Amino acid sequence: MSSSNPAADYSIFAQGSLSHRPRRLRRTDALRRMVQETQLSANDLIYPLFVMEGEGQKVEVSSMPGCYRFSLDLLLKEVAEAFSLGIKAIALFPLVAEAKKDATGTESYNPEGLVQRTVRAIKKEVPEIVVITDVALDPFSSEGHDGIVAEDGTILNDATVEVLVKMALSQAEAGVDMVAPSDMMDGRIGAIRKALDAEGYTDVSILAYSAKYASAYYGPFRDALESAPKFGDKKTYQMDPANAIEALKEIELDIAEGADIVMVKPALAYLDIIQRVRNATNLPVAAYNVSGEYAMIKAAGMKGWIDEKKVILETLTSMKRAGANLILTYFAKEVALMLK
Ligand code: PBG
Repeated sequence: MSSSNPAADYSIFAQGSLSHRPRRLRRTDALRRMVQETQLSANDLIYPLFVMEGEGQKVEVSSMPGCYRFSLDLLLKEVAEAFSLGIKAIALFPLVAEAKKDATGTESYNPEGLVQRTVRAIKKEVPEIVVITDVALDPFSSEGHDGIVAEDGTILNDATVEVLVKMALSQAEAGVDMVAPSDMMDGRIGAIRKALDAEGYTDVSILAYSAKYASAYYGPFRDALESAPKFGDKKTYQMDPANAIEALKEIELDIAEGADIVMVKPALAYLDIIQRVRNATNLPVAAYNVSGEYAMIKAAGMKGWIDEKKVILETLTSMKRAGANLILTYFAKEVALMLK
């Protein structure tokens, strides 16, 4: 077949020849909303908060502009405000005085410790908010490590787990809803679950930092808590960023040991891990949008190099799209406000 006008014959744009036009469903805001696959909600957000001793203290973390360490009185206001914005959960991290740190982190299970007092106060003032506490030695350790350090510098697994169990029990006794072991010692989920159950805390759930990587993205967090390791790094317990299959093994172990929610951390550079974990389990999956991810967006936003609010929403949406049901994020309050 030949034609005097080949362009008309062969063009894919000849009338009727283009059966699929995805742009039809992007035409108006209403249409776009109808086909939107992922929605962020304040219900998805867990707000990490730094607590310090004292009164009337609200100290900005220099590498995390807009993020503060609060003394308990002001922290309670922040928690109440977060709850009124629709945020359902907070994750607590303490700044511990250097004088209270020691080799085995004994302050971590002091019934009158900062975390324990803070949990009791929040549960009294804002009882409905879900309070999550971190279980790891680093803020309490004179070595700045998540575990007990042996003389030769190795991190002792089983001795550390014994301390983690005491820490989790004392947090449960203070009234916490969920404990979140972030230390990456082997067997700690099972040990903590067993101890909680034996002491009658069957309703305290475990949010397991299951696939936690040895990441440079934690830098600003360690500034906030003055908890950077005094020597070496965390590579003998946190995971190698090059590994993905190993994340599935860690997830499998934590689920077998009794985790209620599994977490991937960090989030942004690990979206593939979030997706694999989502496909590998029926438990809720959490992702931690960590301090370094926060700092990068804030820094570029403050320079006027990016549209900060849009980048925040796009970033958190990517985590949810990858399969995270819950996102720990320092942007929680800002996002809850934007979603209102
Ligand atoms: C400590 C802990 C860390 C974070 C949460 N819990 C730091 C680390 O492992 O060194 C990092 C959170 C963040 O960077 O926002 N076990």
